[in-house]
Amino acid sequence: MNKAIDPALMQAAEAIGSTPSTGLEAWWMPFTANRQFKQAPRLLARASGMHYWDVHGRQILDGVAGLWCVNAGHARPRIVQAIQQQAAELDFAPTFQMGHPKAFELAERLASIAPAGLNRVFFANSGSEAVETALKIALAYHRVRGEGTRTRLIGRERGYHGVNFGGISVGGMVGNRKTFGLAVAGVDHLRHTHDPARNAFSVGQPLHGADFADDLERLVALHDASNIAAVIVEPVAGSTGVLVPPVGYLQRLREICTRHGILLIFDEVITGFGRTGQPFAAQTFGVVPDMITCAKGINNGCVPMGAVLVRQDLHDAFMTGPEHQIEFFHGYTYSAHPLACAAALGTLDTYAEEGLLTRAGELQDYFAQAVHSLKGEPNVIDIRNIGLVGGIELAPLPGEPTKRAFGIFLDLYAKGLLVRTTGDTVALSPPLIIERGQIDQIVDLLRGAIRRAA
Ligand SMILES: Cc1ncc(COP(=O)(O)O)c(C=O)c1O
Repeated sequence: MNKAIDPALMQAAEAIGSTPSTGLEAWWMPFTANRQFKQAPRLLARASGMHYWDVHGRQILDGVAGLWCVNAGHARPRIVQAIQQQAAELDFAPTFQMGHPKAFELAERLASIAPAGLNRVFFANSGSEAVETALKIALAYHRVRGEGTRTRLIGRERGYHGVNFGGISVGGMVGNRKTFGLAVAGVDHLRHTHDPARNAFSVGQPLHGADFADDLERLVALHDASNIAAVIVEPVAGSTGVLVPPVGYLQRLREICTRHGILLIFDEVITGFGRTGQPFAAQTFGVVPDMITCAKGINNGCVPMGAVLVRQDLHDAFMTGPEHQIEFFHGYTYSAHPLACAAALGTLDTYAEEGLLTRAGELQDYFAQAVHSLKGEPNVIDIRNIGLVGGIELAPLPGEPTKRAFGIFLDLYAKGLLVRTTGDTVALSPPLIIERGQIDQIVDLLRGAIRRAA
C-alpha cells in the first residue's frame, strides 16, 4: 500500500470525519481503488429506508439503491423478518435431486410477473452466474434439438454482463479485454447504440438508432445463422453509462433473431424489478426475449441471488430422454438457497403491497425533468434517463478520464449523498420508494458538486 497520503485525499477524509486507519490491509476490495479507499475509508454501518449511516453516524442519502439492488429501500420489515425466520427454520437445503417449498413458490411468483411465456426459472447466486447460466442454456438448447452447430454467442459493445468468463466475453468493456485477454472464443459483438451526435440530451428513449439492430444482419452474413446460438443485450446498458435503447431498436433486434432462429437474451440484472416502470424492461419496451437474466432487486439485494427466466418451450425441449437422467448439467450449491428465497418472497410481497414495480413509471416524468435541469451546468455533455435511472455525462478532465466523475463521487459522499460513477458518467438509480423531495435533494446536491468540479 502507498503510505504517502495525497493532500486532496486527506481533505476528502477529513470532510467525512474519516482518518486513514490501520487494519484495512487484508481485504482486497472488489472494483475499488484500494489505495485511495484505505487512505480515506468510507465505512457504512447501518441503513434504513432511503438512507445509510456511516460508522461516524453521518446520514447518507442513497442515490443508487446500494448498487442498483435495494429497490424497496433498506431494512424493510417483511424482508428482515422473512430472513430471520428462515435462518431458524431451514438454514440450508440441497437443491440437487432435492427441493424445498419456498423455491417452488418463488419460481411461480417470478413467472407470474415475467413477460408472458417466460415461466420457467433457473436459480443462481448473482447476476454474473445468471448470465453464465443463460449462455449455457442457449448452447445446450440448440444441441438437444439437433442444431449443435449453433455455438457462437453475440454480445454488444459497451455491454456489461458480470465478471465471469462467459460474461466478460459477450460483454463489450475494453477493460476486460485489456486485462484478461481472449476469455471465451467464438464470440462476436454488435455495435453499441450510443450516438451522442444525434441523441444527446434525449428525454427517455432516443429517437435515432433503431437501425443499429441491423448490425446483427451483418454478423449473420459473416458467420451464418446456423452457427449462432444467441444474442445477449442489456435493454438499458447501466454499467457503461446508462445507455437507453433507441425507439424501435429492441423490436428490430427481436425480429432479426426470430427470423434466423437465434435466441434473444435480455440481461435485466439492473432493469429487473421495477427500475423502468414495469416489473421488467421487456414489458416497458414491449419486446419479449427468449430468456431474461435477473438478480439484485430479486430480493432487494439482501441475500445473494440470481435467476434466469426461460421460455417454456426452451425448457420443454430438455425434457426428453430417460427420466432418471439429469436434463441440464448445471447448477450451484447455493441455487435457490432458502435464505435467498425467503428474502425474495418478502421482497415480492413488499413490491406488491406498495406498488413499487410500477412506481418508477409514475415518477419518471418528475425524475426526468429534475435530472435534465442539469443541462447547461459546467462540463455536462449529455443526460440520459428512463424510469428511475439517470446518467449525467461529464467532459473528462484533459488526459485524466474518470477523474472528474470520481471527484464528484467523493465530494457528494462528503455532502451526504451516495451516487455511482462509471467512466465520467454519474449514474443515479435510487430506491423506488423515493419521494419527489428526495429527487430534488439529489439533483441539488449533484448540481453543487458539478459546479465545484468545474
Ligand atoms: C447487466 C448486468 N449483468 C450482470 C451483472 C453482474 O451481476 P453481479 O455483480 O451480481 O454478478 C451486472 C452488475 O451490475 C449487470 O449490471
